Amino acid sequence: MSEDNKKIAIIGGTGLTSLKNLEITRREIAMTPYGEASSPLAYGCLNNGASQSTEVVFLARHGHAHTMPPHMVNYRANIRALKEAGVTDIIAVNAVGGIRNDMLPGSLVIPDQIIDYTTRRINTFYEKNLNHVTHIDFSYPYSAELSQQIIDSAEEEKIKLIRGGTYAATEGPRLETAAEIQRLKRDGCDIVGMTGMPEAALARELAIDYASICVNANWAAGLSDEPITMEAIEKNVENGLAQVRQLIAAVIENCH
Ligand code: HPA
Repeated sequence: MSEDNKKIAIIGGTGLTSLKNLEITRREIAMTPYGEASSPLAYGCLNNGASQSTEVVFLARHGHAHTMPPHMVNYRANIRALKEAGVTDIIAVNAVGGIRNDMLPGSLVIPDQIIDYTTRRINTFYEKNLNHVTHIDFSYPYSAELSQQIIDSAEEEKIKLIRGGTYAATEGPRLETAAEIQRLKRDGCDIVGMTGMPEAALARELAIDYASICVNANWAAGLSDEPITMEAIEKNVENGLAQVRQLIAAVIENCH
């Protein structure tokens, strides 16, 4: 697909219910065969020079008022709504806990692998009324091209990020036990979050390129002497998000 035909969506996670530099032109409630998307789709132009005329779509994963916990998000409705809006590329923003020792709170990571530990989420569109059974190739869950565009834009903007890492998707909503984190570490996971799956797989099923910017919110359970509090999570996410906003604007600028 030529760059001109790209339509980029941002799925905002914890702390990112809107983009300050997104000039919203319209909001549409998105109803799909799977139900309503988490928030209205906000259409707009990112306010940074050349991309003025480029429409992007923003969806708040946890609802506009951040009231929907990760295990209650209607991932199928969200991805289907974005597909119906003509979206070709999704940049997902996910808050995570750091497992690997360089995943400091506040730092940004572009993951390149996922292990799915979720247990009770509907994780496919290929369920009923099938002409034939379909198995998508999910060897590489994130779009290498879109991830590289994010990495290149970060370099231009002098934004530090960690390239690559394995994302453990847990069910939540509780945080993990220290022993669970040790298991994830043995499994080769570098970060842990509750929203990466089934979102990434559903995007692949609908042939949407998908990449993630993860914001380290805390050291994962048992890896620090500090208790994990919502206040600390929110503070670290907010610090990381200042850079995420700048990065997303640059990626969109560079994609057009
Ligand atoms: N675990 C799971 N999800 C998270 C965490 C965590 O430590 N921090 C932010 N999201």
